[in-house]
Amino acid sequence: MVSTTQKTKETIKSHGGELINRQVKGQEREQLIEEAQSFPKLTLNPWSLSDLELIAIGGFSPLTGFLGEKDYVSVVENVRLENGLVWSIPITLPVTEEEANNFEIGSSIALYGEDDHLYGVLNLEEKYTYDKSKEAQNVYGTTDVDHPGVKRVYEKGNVYLAGPIQLVDRPKHDEFSDFHLDPSETRELFKELGWKTVVGFQTRNPVHRAHEYIQKIALESVDGLLLNPLVGETKSDDISAEIRMESYQVILKHYYPEERTRLVIYPAAMRYAGPREAILHALVRKNYGCTHFIVGRDHAGVGDYYGTYDAQELIAQYEDEIDIQIFKFEHAFFCTVCENMTTAKTCPHDKSKHVHLSGTKVREKLRNGEQLPKEFSRPEVADVLIKGLKQN
Ligand code: ADX
Repeated sequence: MVSTTQKTKETIKSHGGELINRQVKGQEREQLIEEAQSFPKLTLNPWSLSDLELIAIGGFSPLTGFLGEKDYVSVVENVRLENGLVWSIPITLPVTEEEANNFEIGSSIALYGEDDHLYGVLNLEEKYTYDKSKEAQNVYGTTDVDHPGVKRVYEKGNVYLAGPIQLVDRPKHDEFSDFHLDPSETRELFKELGWKTVVGFQTRNPVHRAHEYIQKIALESVDGLLLNPLVGETKSDDISAEIRMESYQVILKHYYPEERTRLVIYPAAMRYAGPREAILHALVRKNYGCTHFIVGRDHAGVGDYYGTYDAQELIAQYEDEIDIQIFKFEHAFFCTVCENMTTAKTCPHDKSKHVHLSGTKVREKLRNGEQLPKEFSRPEVADVLIKGLKQN
């Protein structure tokens, strides 16, 4: 961890200065639903639907819609929107060429989910084709289709639709309704709790001892912790959001101070874009009202595509501009001699004394109903995971 100074601003600004809200309510909503009946229809997959939601609720502020070509090219090539504001991942709406032909520039498109529910409307300003290998290389650092994010790039349609959106209904997330807050609501919550400094934590995994260690070190320096797990689409061998959410509640109940911790879902899809996604994750948490964000080892990584600290190195280049402080942590593990969680920065002992488990090994043990070593996982968490995986 290199950053220790505290931010004590009354409220943290959202990215670009204005927290975007593209949700239409009341009379305006009724009218838009009515009008949308005559608009051409597009069915969004869960990934695009979650992007629509994140734009509308302000998680992706300052975006007000899917990126137009100039912003897209600028993000892919320069990690910035055309106006110079840092933005690391292109938020785009892909369709096939055939689908694109159904839509006229200047018209409105009714955006449906796979459940055939009308969620929003796109005012179509642009349609453009794009260079897939360039997007893959620049955003994901590789064109290897074994990379789950790159695979998506090559699978999706060849045309991006762009323009501002409006949301008529928020996707429900019924199963997590107690933990479903928008950025404007988490900002209110932090105010009510009197938290002036809040560290955000992104995860797509259950919280293990290493996560707990780095969260708690961060929590020593700030007022509150926002545990903000990603619950949108993940790759098939990641543990499901339903099981993870149960495990988060259990670990919070047993091991965290209730008055200094909150659990809120981050309803986005996982890109596995490593360094570039770490920047997106930080910007989104700033929009949720966090003053600090944790980037540990191989943040948002997958396989061996990124170096252990690539994400920390990339985000460090933009840290002065993005106005959210980054807590950077070395790879943490349990040392049997220290009898504690530690890192190479603080532990002098040989590697043979350290408890390490690969993700594959962990999943294998859990699926076989085996407990995990308590040096790796709190037993209450392992119990939830074993039970959840048995039922799946
Ligand atoms: S992900 O969303 O970044 O892919 P993951 O659950 O693997 O989720 O990690 C959540 C956060 O904890 C990331 O910032 C990651 O870098 C950090 N992290 C995970 N494991 C460790 C570890 N053993 N030591 C230090 N940081 C870790």
